[in-house]
Amino acid sequence: MKENNFSKKSFISIDELTQSELTQIIKKARMMKNLEKQGKRYELNEALKNKRLASLFYEPSTRTRTSFETAMVELGGNLLGFAGTEGTSVMKNESILATVMMYWANHADAVVMRHPKDGAVRWASDVLGIPVINGGDGKNEHPTQALLDLVTIDEITPGINGTKIGFGGDLAHGRTVRSNAIALSKYDNITINWAAAQEFAMPNDLIEFLKNKGVKVNQYDTVEEVMKNSDIYYMTRPQKERIKDKTPQQVNEIMQKYRITLDKLTANPNIRILHPLPVDSSTAEIDTDVFFSKNQYFFAQAENGIFLRKALLYEILNGTESTTFNPNIEQIVANNREYLQSKEYNKGELLLDRIEHGIVIDHIPDGLAHTIDETLGFSKRGYKIMTLANAESSSLQQKGMLKITGATLTEREYKQIVEICPNVTFNIIKDWNVAEKFKYHLCQNDNCVTRVINEDVPPRFEEDGRCHYCGRK
Ligand code: CP
Repeated sequence: MKENNFSKKSFISIDELTQSELTQIIKKARMMKNLEKQGKRYELNEALKNKRLASLFYEPSTRTRTSFETAMVELGGNLLGFAGTEGTSVMKNESILATVMMYWANHADAVVMRHPKDGAVRWASDVLGIPVINGGDGKNEHPTQALLDLVTIDEITPGINGTKIGFGGDLAHGRTVRSNAIALSKYDNITINWAAAQEFAMPNDLIEFLKNKGVKVNQYDTVEEVMKNSDIYYMTRPQKERIKDKTPQQVNEIMQKYRITLDKLTANPNIRILHPLPVDSSTAEIDTDVFFSKNQYFFAQAENGIFLRKALLYEILNGTESTTFNPNIEQIVANNREYLQSKEYNKGELLLDRIEHGIVIDHIPDGLAHTIDETLGFSKRGYKIMTLANAESSSLQQKGMLKITGATLTEREYKQIVEICPNVTFNIIKDWNVAEKFKYHLCQNDNCVTRVINEDVPPRFEEDGRCHYCGRK
């Protein structure tokens, strides 16, 4: 097998790549572009012969999906998958786990996936034994967009070091700016200038990350000031599908001041306008006149996506053996339990040991014990329920403790309870004793895939407290 840094590896976050790996993939993309310029589009059409890419797009896409598919075809490979979940068993509530597994079973050699939930693509890569490429997950990351942005920036400011880039539009809900900025942070002497409405401001965690990496980050009031201080202006559309608390019209009004118009370009007549696309034609965050100006570079940027994705698929799959379907997910378990000291709970916990076997849920806010029982249906399922005062379930509303004789909980049930009451403590009772006492932590990002009850993704955290899937603290 021909090995390189990308062979058979998943690609989920741009932060996984070193500068030398970025250089390797940019060079390869340039090589693919040169072949195209020389009229040799199909020069490598044996490279991925008999290789199959599953293209799984749970969210709409024009560029990312088609450029991956074009890349696969031009390299001699083939495709399966879906563009939107209509017509798949996702419509019958099939989970991500079961869905992606079926594409491996259908002899996919790799997967590219887009999903509205942060961390969903990492989850797919954790459960599959084939490489998974992130085609965009929620408001989290779009790492192949970041790579094609780097290919484009390298054309404009060769070497990338020293780039002064302006960001505008919706910096709060988009994933392209996050991945682009993280990619640039791997280079020297980078300046990021930005201006955006308060509602669409660059997230503080990203600013902090960039500053820690030595990136100069400057906030300005106006688009013109950003343009004056930048070589490239990277505009983004308002991510209306993720903005739940405003109408589309309100969003358009907020964006007015920050739209890119021809007159604003006079602030820096040489500026290059990039945009990951699509432009929202109802907001027109880039005035159509700008499409026809010499400053517009976003269609060339989008075409670079084909060369970049050819390069990436080539590096991941060329010369590799197919992986036989072998689902093995037993080792994927939650690590989110915070166990509490045995000394603490052994001390005179007379109330806890009044049941022989079962669960005691402690520290339930007033009134919510009843909600837990209603949601999980312990009483209806015939479990004997008691409150702190050993009352019958009719008085559950006043008490802060729920004892369920004979019950064990599934991971889904723990999650359901903690979604209702985040700070409860679980006591597992065996033979009248507290065998285990713990808190069950959830990711704080409510768009994280681990928060979708029916997906049953076991919550997992890294040592520094970041969510394993969406990366948020
Ligand atoms: N840039 C981008 O991701 O475009 P699509 O949503 O059309 O794939």
